[in-house]
Amino acid sequence: MLAISGIGTLVTNDASLERGKLGIINNAALVIGDDNKIAWAGESVNLPREFVGMATNVGGRAIIPGFVDSHTHLVFGGDRASEFEARMSGKPYTAGGIRTTMTATRAATNEILIENAQRLANEALHSGTTTLEVKSGYGLSVTDETRSLQVASTITSETTFLGAHVVPPDSKIDDYVNLVCGEMLTQCAPNAKWIDVFCDHGAFDVGHARAILTAGAKAGLGLRIHANQLRHGGGVQLGVEMGAASCDHCTHLNDADISALADANGRTVATLLPTAELCTRSKFPDARRLLDAGVTIALASDCNPGSSYTTSMPLVISLAVLNMNMTCDEAVWSATAGGAAALRRTDIGSLHIGAQADFALLNSSSHIHLAYRPGVQLINAVFKKGECVAGSLK
Ligand code: NIG
Ligand code: FE
Repeated sequence: MLAISGIGTLVTNDASLERGKLGIINNAALVIGDDNKIAWAGESVNLPREFVGMATNVGGRAIIPGFVDSHTHLVFGGDRASEFEARMSGKPYTAGGIRTTMTATRAATNEILIENAQRLANEALHSGTTTLEVKSGYGLSVTDETRSLQVASTITSETTFLGAHVVPPDSKIDDYVNLVCGEMLTQCAPNAKWIDVFCDHGAFDVGHARAILTAGAKAGLGLRIHANQLRHGGGVQLGVEMGAASCDHCTHLNDADISALADANGRTVATLLPTAELCTRSKFPDARRLLDAGVTIALASDCNPGSSYTTSMPLVISLAVLNMNMTCDEAVWSATAGGAAALRRTDIGSLHIGAQADFALLNSSSHIHLAYRPGVQLINAVFKKGECVAGSLK
């Protein structure tokens, strides 16, 4: 049992409280039960008498649900610092850089891949992320995709098979798509919950993406799609049509894409990845257009060595507010409850009674500071399943 009082701003995301989208309680207290779930949340003055003596007072600081980072590529070898340096001197970003990481990933031992993925997962945890989705996609052979998913499974249960990231060198696209839909899927499916495909210029077209997602669904995997990142194309509409949990990137959208996402009524979430735009010097998508149409948005880091080498969800939130026309409340919701929606989870991303006790104590009096103080470390403590896994309540 754990009780916390003196919470200046408690973001619950509990819609049933009818306190706005974030379900905010001021001057709040929180009780975590022995089952590591939220047992009670309310104003400190109403904290049940039996908890008053045991409660730790956090002196007016804010508590928010842990971030749900629903899109990362943490399994890879090497880095691409020289590609980044060249890009900052004017060279454009292309999907082709994925093959550089493929070579380094194939050359790395399982131990090195696990160590690198663990290091990044730990970095994410210290910046407030309590759930990570992790994709394969830098192996691009049956053996290397299979071991990439084994590595991903050591980090999270939200694992995604992304054999269809790009076509490896020396393969023909039709042969490679057949391999992805056949033997590679068979070997990878036991360690994957989701299947994803990079449907974009320089990667896979809509026809190939449809074949890959159809095969994944037949194997019992949930669907996700990288769509409309580099150019406008049919990826977003394909994702909605096939009932994907999420269409990710959504950088180049026309009105028909936005209506399709709106008509999905939250069943297909639009996942925006502003650090990918930041690190490739691309135009940010306009989240306001999506929100005004009623689309559910998730925010995620896209952590990978090419387009977005960061695990920081606070940075993602500040960019979403400062460059994508989201309000502070919308961005915090999308980085928590929105990420949970993109993973079709109701037990995380929110601090309603009965939810898993995953939360972060900030160094500030409210969640607004996450956007207001870009680049500043504001995470004081992180709790996962009721246990303090980083920092402290002091
Ligand atoms: O989501 N878009 C495809 N995949 C990654 C980038 C991969 C890379 O450049 O290594 C992304 O941005
Ligand atoms: Fe990605």
